[in-house]
Amino acid sequence: MKTQPDDSTLSMAHIFNSAVAASAIGAAWEIGALDELSERGVLNVHQFVTHKQLDTPAALALFRALAAVDVVKREGTRIVPGVNFTEACRTRSFFHWLCQGSADLFRRMPEVVYAHNREGDFHRRDSAAIAFACREISTFSYDPWFWQAVGGLDFDVTSVADLGCGSGERVLQLLRHFPAAHAVGIDIARPALDVAAGAAAAAGLADRVTLFQADVLALVPHEAFDRVELLTSFMMGHDFWPRANCVAVLQRLRELFPGARRFLLGDATRTPDTADRDLPVFTLGFEVAHDLMGTFIPTIADWESVFEEGGWRLHRKHTIDLAVGEVIFELVRL
Ligand SMILES: C[S@@+](CC[C@H](N)C(=O)[O-])C[C@H]1O[C@@H](n2cnc3c(N)ncnc32)[C@H](O)[C@@H]1O
Repeated sequence: MKTQPDDSTLSMAHIFNSAVAASAIGAAWEIGALDELSERGVLNVHQFVTHKQLDTPAALALFRALAAVDVVKREGTRIVPGVNFTEACRTRSFFHWLCQGSADLFRRMPEVVYAHNREGDFHRRDSAAIAFACREISTFSYDPWFWQAVGGLDFDVTSVADLGCGSGERVLQLLRHFPAAHAVGIDIARPALDVAAGAAAAAGLADRVTLFQADVLALVPHEAFDRVELLTSFMMGHDFWPRANCVAVLQRLRELFPGARRFLLGDATRTPDTADRDLPVFTLGFEVAHDLMGTFIPTIADWESVFEEGGWRLHRKHTIDLAVGEVIFELVRL
């Protein structure tokens, strides 16, 4: 007689299947399957495979992985939304960030936990994939508060610079908002800048954007910086830390952008401990990834302790705290 699997066996199977499905959620988003299902309510695998030039067994495998966690239901080659479909669409960018953008870091977990392996450039992530995911993460984690801050500016913006610009989406949106403005996007990663350049060209805004490949922590003066009135940086401010370095970077940015009247700094912050079993989507992935990379994540209080020393005054704070202590600081030069 076949014995019934116990609770622990079932739980481990679910964890394993969820790990496979996590990659499939990011992939299904990237190849347009989630959007097609959202728009039409049904997806025919044969038609989708032909339209997207996919491999049929591989595409069926992807949908099978989604079905294993109720993101979709499979009726042969007819795919319809499952009970977790809406939530999977809402959180798909977090899965992409984890499984497509940060995959190599997690793959190398057994190496990077060794103290002797944590020298120099010891980890890699896919910066183009991170840029792709962060473009959507920003739409619900920061943008409503970001636009509130932009709406509250008491000057017309003619020049803006975005530090760690990733996909370039923020500068492109600012250019649409301020039709007379020019924008500078700075990022350390060439693949992210390639995404930004493609997006600027597609939007017909390439002639109003200058993209620089540079390390914001070691930026040198450039004439394009002199006229910048609005400085922005989203989801990279934690790279300014530890504390002494952060103060120095803030002081340096103040010198490099002498005309900056407002600095909108949005980032995740370390929040008080939540019980390990009660963590919402994204928090665990974000915090484990940054601990593996050795990146310090400051608290809001840590940030508030550096602004004046760094030459900036906190004008307003938007506490968002959706998943990873998101906050936007509006800074003015001292
Ligand atoms: C999480 S992504 C956020 C991208 C974008 N700001 C957004 O809101 O979607 C962080 C970006 O900062 C860039 N970055 C990280 N450290 C940097 C540094 N020291 N100098 C310049 N760019 C950096 C990364 O390459 C990446 O594109």
